Amino acid sequence: MKSENFQLQNYNTFGLQAQALVFFSYSSHEDLCSFLKNDFRRDLPFFILGGGSNILFTRNYPGTIIHPETKGISIVKEDSDTVFVNVAAGEIWDDFVKWAVEHNFYGAENLSFIPGCIGASPVQNIGAYGVEAKDIIHEVHCLSIANQTERMFSNAECKFGYRDSIFKHEEAGKYIVLDVTFKLQKHASFNLRYGSLQSVIDESTATLQTVRDAIIAIRKDKLPDPKEIGSAGSFFKNPVIPKAQADALKEQYPTMVTYPVGDEHTKIAAGWLIDSLGFKGFQIGGAKVHPKQALVLTNAGDAEGSDVVKLAEEIQRKVFETYGIAIVPEVIYL
Ligand code: EPU
Repeated sequence: MKSENFQLQNYNTFGLQAQALVFFSYSSHEDLCSFLKNDFRRDLPFFILGGGSNILFTRNYPGTIIHPETKGISIVKEDSDTVFVNVAAGEIWDDFVKWAVEHNFYGAENLSFIPGCIGASPVQNIGAYGVEAKDIIHEVHCLSIANQTERMFSNAECKFGYRDSIFKHEEAGKYIVLDVTFKLQKHASFNLRYGSLQSVIDESTATLQTVRDAIIAIRKDKLPDPKEIGSAGSFFKNPVIPKAQADALKEQYPTMVTYPVGDEHTKIAAGWLIDSLGFKGFQIGGAKVHPKQALVLTNAGDAEGSDVVKLAEEIQRKVFETYGIAIVPEVIYL
């Protein structure tokens, strides 16, 4: 389906009003190929929009929004230990996690309740509670935008990093993810090391469903439900800085939350940095820092994209002024 001057308010979890000059959604690969061959305006910018859960529309979008609505979850290969599951780009991420849990397949459960679509999971290497999409992605099946040829990217070829992949660098803007094949385990193997999980789940009695339920409960407690309050989850990435700089800061601010990254770097909880400056509940125009989790910026009702930009800039400025750390958005500005 192709529309012009299309309202995107229901296609971004911030719930911001913005119009796309052209909006194209498709539920088959044939429709996508035919659009790219015949209708696609190469002189305009374009963006592939999944669930819109990591996007900030700062203005009307002056190009084409391509939105996958392809569906399908199927087992493509299995042996006694592992199962390979192929999932279409347009499937809701959490529907896949729910499916995996119901089929007794291990590996996706810590990623329960993350908003968004399957197609975005390799691009952004989504992650939570000690697990990242890269831990279960086997390969990513893509379509070239330039000539509609198909290409398979192995896990290694995706060059995954923290909220990062080749699709944000060398291959940015060149491919559309068609479907992703995940490798899941048939035998119990949980990852419950992440702080707040350990205290709520006993590994000896854990089941896939209890782990999923616990994670959903933690996320519901801390993160706003996008159906009620617009947001894009964590707004900033957790910064990684040289260990020496982090050690000096930690001496000055002993409660600062830090995690070692290799021998020479330290990851700092951006939520702590923002919270420590008293930002919880702080508001500029319609944009507000979530009172329960300072890393999340929300739409308090009638926010404009520019309110969120101003709020983010004020936070970045104060964090830099106080701690000398530049925090950068995880959310993509359009
Ligand atoms: N903290 C505060 N105050 C706050 C927020 C956090 O002091 O207002 C402290 C917490 O007490 C905790 C630490 O900062 O000790 C880290 O906070 P949390 O465990 O909530 O995790 P996070 O680093 O804020 C990351 C991901 C989330 C993911 C959680 C759970 C990023 C940018 N965010 O958040 O991902 O759900 O870990 O694994 O890496 C998302 O990407 O949208 C997202 C929600």
